[in-house]
Amino acid sequence: MSDPRFHNKTIVITGAGGNFGRSGCLYFLRRGARIAALDVDENSLNETIAEVRNAFNDDDATTVSPPPESRIKGYSCDVTNDSNVESVIISIVRDFGRIDMLWNNAGYQGQIKPTLEYDPADFARVMNINVTGMFVVLQSVARQMSQQHAEEKAGADDDGTLTSSTLSHPYSIVNTASVAGLRGTPAMVAYSSSKAAVLAMTVSSAKDLAPHGIRVNAISPALIGPGYMWTRQNELHAASGSPYFASNAEEVAKAKIGGVPMKRLGSVEEVIKSVAYLLSDDSSYTSGTNLVVDGGLSSGLKA
Ligand SMILES: NC(=O)c1ccc[n+]([C@@H]2O[C@H](COP(=O)([O-])OP(=O)(O)OC[C@H]3O[C@@H](n4cnc5c(N)ncnc54)[C@H](O)[C@@H]3O)[C@@H](O)[C@H]2O)c1
Repeated sequence: MSDPRFHNKTIVITGAGGNFGRSGCLYFLRRGARIAALDVDENSLNETIAEVRNAFNDDDATTVSPPPESRIKGYSCDVTNDSNVESVIISIVRDFGRIDMLWNNAGYQGQIKPTLEYDPADFARVMNINVTGMFVVLQSVARQMSQQHAEEKAGADDDGTLTSSTLSHPYSIVNTASVAGLRGTPAMVAYSSSKAAVLAMTVSSAKDLAPHGIRVNAISPALIGPGYMWTRQNELHAASGSPYFASNAEEVAKAKIGGVPMKRLGSVEEVIKSVAYLLSDDSSYTSGTNLVVDGGLSSGLKA
């Protein structure tokens, strides 16, 4: 099934070996995109590539052209290493010719410990991956997008205006933040701080990059599951010693869902559909916003 919003677009996805990233690769590949899949963990990155290829072998491989295996490539990349990021971006442009969209999604949740016990070294690690790393990727990809935009403008009408069929801001970046950055989460002080910084980064860079034809938005999910991440986080919250959580993981899960106005978990696909909206031209007049995907949790509605 091809989708004109993504057909032949090159999308860079960081954290592609993880839960959201892997499903995102499959979702956008199915819609005809070309994917540069980045992760520091080569094993999980290879699993993503293998899983995606198997999925296509099983179903619509023969109906999608060009074949999906030629439209996804994995790149080992540590987002905290700026020279590594820069050389990966050069490789992506060499392999795919251009970059249209970025899902800036790699992240690390850090320790689950109350503030009084939190290790400052881990706080710094969380900030380095979730904030500095996200910025390094955003800047490196935006430089490439900005160069493409300048070249396209130079090739437009003589007076420099783009033709009416061409969007003013064809390039799009989505940063993965979290509801934790909006309202804080007990025992996750570093993670919450980092995601609040991602929201500020999104707003500031959206202003800086608008003159370069680039939109920047954030997505803030919460209570996504079921699955390993959901179960593991409840176990860690239960073991954290925080008075805000029961000491039994099942009770933690029940209390969390009870606090959501919609009284259920969100699915990974619901997250990705929201990312797709922000990445695509469907949101062509939206920049610097934060799309919250949390069943109403942070809305101020009483559960
Ligand atoms: N799962 C949720 O419920 C949830 C909710 C809100 C926000 N988020 C955010 O969504 C994003 C994806 O989460 P997920 O659930 O897929 O987590 P995940 O742990 O499954 O995936 C994160 C990926 O990021 C990669 N990564 C970590 N450090 C890196 C580095 N230095 N360089 C490159 N890659 C690195 C990891 O190897 C991993 O594959 C994260 O930013 C996370 O904070 C997740």
